[in-house]
Amino acid sequence: MLQLSSDATFHFEILRDLSLSTAEGADVGELLVTAPLITPGDFESYTEAFYNLSSWVYSTATAIDANKFPVSARTSYLRAATYFRSAEFFLRSNWSDPRIQSYWELNNHSFCTALPLFPYKAQRLTLHATNFSFPAVYYSSGLPGKRPTLILGNGYDGGQEELYHYMVRDALERGFNCITYEGPGQPSVRINQGLGFINNWEAVITPVVDYLLTRSDVHPAAISLMGLSLGGYLAPRAAAFEHRLAAVIALNGVFDFGPFTFSEFPSEIQDLYTAGNVTAFNEAMEYLLASSETSTGARWGIEQGMWAFNTPTPYEWITAILPFTLENVYQSITCPVFVGDSSYDIFFPGQAELLAQKLGSLATYHLFTNSEGGGEHAAIGASNLRNQVVFDWLETTLGL
Ligand SMILES: *[C@@H]1O[C@H](CO)[C@@H](O)[C@H](O)[C@H]1NC(C)=O
Ligand SMILES: *[C@@H]1O[C@H](CO)[C@@H](O)[C@H](O)[C@H]1NC(C)=O
Ligand SMILES: *[C@@H]1O[C@H](CO)[C@@H](O)[C@H](O)[C@H]1NC(C)=O
Ligand SMILES: *[C@@H]1O[C@H](CO)[C@@H](O)[C@H](O)[C@H]1NC(C)=O
Ligand SMILES: *[C@@H]1O[C@H](CO)[C@@H](O)[C@H](O)[C@H]1NC(C)=O
Repeated sequence: MLQLSSDATFHFEILRDLSLSTAEGADVGELLVTAPLITPGDFESYTEAFYNLSSWVYSTATAIDANKFPVSARTSYLRAATYFRSAEFFLRSNWSDPRIQSYWELNNHSFCTALPLFPYKAQRLTLHATNFSFPAVYYSSGLPGKRPTLILGNGYDGGQEELYHYMVRDALERGFNCITYEGPGQPSVRINQGLGFINNWEAVITPVVDYLLTRSDVHPAAISLMGLSLGGYLAPRAAAFEHRLAAVIALNGVFDFGPFTFSEFPSEIQDLYTAGNVTAFNEAMEYLLASSETSTGARWGIEQGMWAFNTPTPYEWITAILPFTLENVYQSITCPVFVGDSSYDIFFPGQAELLAQKLGSLATYHLFTNSEGGGEHAAIGASNLRNQVVFDWLETTLGL
């Protein structure tokens, strides 16, 4: 694929924004002029380029009379929201950087300003788990009767706004209701409540299902759950305990997040962890983070992980992620699972195949390939193709 940056991680993240252009989340030209302004490996240059772009798009949005030109205002605010998220994305190494909160608020504010201008009725909600609250957005298909409904959750690093462009719009067009949410560890909940990821993801999904069952427009036997990226672990994890789900879509499928991530580190570092040598392990990880040899992907992955799991040291982070495996719970999954895979998945290679293999006849494994433009993680960049494959499977599976 044509690279948008010589830095593989920056390429992926810019492509991720670009892919949202099929559903009003970005403009191709804005990203193609921004990409060359970003210095490979330089997180601050990424932030600056996107903050400049987002500020510019936001100022055009605020200049539009939304009563007179609601579509123009909506499409402008939605692009601004995407670019504010990107401006914030590489800042999480420094937890006290005030731009994390302020850029995320600008994303939320831009997106919330666009919501009433959507062609579908959208409603912001706060849902309650046993010991925390979390934000959600319900989108109504607008069709009469009880409709199939899709729950959508993001993964290791993304917010619920992105999901509108990734799949919600395409689900609504096919007659589904949708609900997006963010749980602990995901940006709004991490920023506003300081909560890191929890492994028992059913604690988040069960209140979402409870809420849906209070609604007269939701078909109770046709509630499905889509998980994006690390969501490809979280969704099947929740489905092992929440049996009111009719189907799960994992993009991409992840069987074993924690032990797999740990296994990617050099063996000397793994040995220090296994030996319980906390000081030497943290020093080795700090050295890795500081080294110019370390790839952007590895550096970002560790820093993002420590932030999202709310673990101040690498040792605490590894300790927090190791339980994230389906090894002892996948046997309790009872619904059909679409297991997406990509031929060039830079994050979880091999994991989707493993999940499909473990689930046996419950799984439908689908490989998106590089030659069809779907080879990137979660088929990022192949929005129409991916959503065609996913929804044709989902509608068939639900008997629609
Ligand atoms: C900021 O964006 C504006 C509008 O797109 C552009 O004219 C300007 O050159 C950009 N500045 C920088 C420093 O990239
Ligand atoms: C982190 O951000 C704070 C607030 O902007 C700043 O004072 C501090 O110097 C930064 N720390 C590092 C290590 O860059
Ligand atoms: C987003 O903004 C809305 C409207 O300003 C606010 O009510 C809501 O609490 C914000 N949501 C989050 C998750 O920050
Ligand atoms: C909520 O309580 C459960 C059970 O005690 C615990 O596993 C989980 O970490 C708690 N979550 C938060 C966000 O405090
Ligand atoms: C921890 O590892 C360091 C570096 O390999 C070593 O010098 C130290 O003796 C180890 N400490 C313990 C308690 O094993």
